[in-house]
Amino acid sequence: MTTPTLTVDGPRLWRSLMDLAAIGAYDDERTGLRGVNRLALTDADAAGRRRVVAWMEEAGLTVRVDRMGNIYGRREGTDPTAAAVLTGSHIDSVATAGAFDGCLGVLGGIEAVRTLNERGIRTRRPIEVAVFTEEEGVRFGTDMLGSAVAAGRLTLEYAHALTDRDGRTLGGELARTGFDGTEDVRLAPPHAYVECHIEQGPVLAGSGVEIGVVTGVQGISWQEITVHGRAAHAGTTPTRLRADAGLAAAHIIVRLRELVDSGEYGDLRATVGHLIVHPDLTNIVPARAELTVDLRNPDDAQMARAEEALAAFLRELEESGPGLSVTTRRMAKTAHVPFDEGVQKVIAQAADDHGLEHISLLSGAGHDAQEIAALCPTAMIFVRGEYDGISHNPREYSTPEACAHGVDVLATTLLRLAGQD
Ligand code: GLV
Ligand code: MN
Ligand code: MN
Repeated sequence: MTTPTLTVDGPRLWRSLMDLAAIGAYDDERTGLRGVNRLALTDADAAGRRRVVAWMEEAGLTVRVDRMGNIYGRREGTDPTAAAVLTGSHIDSVATAGAFDGCLGVLGGIEAVRTLNERGIRTRRPIEVAVFTEEEGVRFGTDMLGSAVAAGRLTLEYAHALTDRDGRTLGGELARTGFDGTEDVRLAPPHAYVECHIEQGPVLAGSGVEIGVVTGVQGISWQEITVHGRAAHAGTTPTRLRADAGLAAAHIIVRLRELVDSGEYGDLRATVGHLIVHPDLTNIVPARAELTVDLRNPDDAQMARAEEALAAFLRELEESGPGLSVTTRRMAKTAHVPFDEGVQKVIAQAADDHGLEHISLLSGAGHDAQEIAALCPTAMIFVRGEYDGISHNPREYSTPEACAHGVDVLATTLLRLAGQD
């Protein structure tokens, strides 16, 4: 006997996505488009959270909030003692986001529940929809933070003490926004976790396929580097007497690109997305430069070699002249995480049963799923993005049809996992 499929209400899903995107919306000067700025635990994020909680309650979910501000909405199963099937993602965003990153997984989970309700379907296992806190890591500096604490990789104390660039703590911002819940943050192992997300890259569009079955997530290494030099007058200080922190930062950026281009570190990607010099004035040699380094690599050994090569270069810089020193601070680090083959098979079968072509691919971006994978069998569904899958940008776009198809696959996958023994 084949298990039935579950087809969601695509226009209703789309309305939810657009309604949520209106919270924290801004006019993006560079693209001329409406973007989304909902950094974690800002007023905009809190407003988005309240909207999502309201939608959860309308869908009959019982909502609880844990001490990291992670939100869970639960739909009871016929066997309430059975471990739940968990889905979800995040609704915090980078400062220049589109409407889909993370939101598709959360709103897709709620849409799957609405559809189950309308069909009068009761599943054996409970189904829970999660909203994880600070997935992006751009406000407090560590990504996948809420899910990492829920999974036990990072401690609550570490997370609560993190500060944003204005010195505000995450713990304080949880209290300020009213999302300092009381539920235990350690998540009891679910039966399985499945997350639907936009691909955020060009692979699905390039292969003309709508659905990606995600095999895992590549390793991520984030660190902050501070170069200490010496401030000096721009006009009077001879070059030989300078310890120019800005110049050293430029050398770091160039060296990272050389590491990538050398091909000696596998499929390495390297990005310096944040760079600031002090005192940041036209006629002063920079005394200090702060930059962040984001490295990605599907191979953990190659990642370790790339990190060593960077560390060796930083030592070289220090030795290159008097007055320069370098300090580093680890922001985040995750290894390559492979996803569960059993859950991938359920997803692939669901896509087949919906008549949707699919391919398997590794995720280039980080996701909450990589943390929850430590607790239970986990995999993800990717939805195709337009414009080469551009993301973390207001141009991010997936069509209403692509979103609906991805959430059809999510809903059917949840139905089947929730029926498992
Ligand atoms: C999450 O968006 C990441 O940086 O991969
Ligand atoms: Mn995301
Ligand atoms: Mn993101």
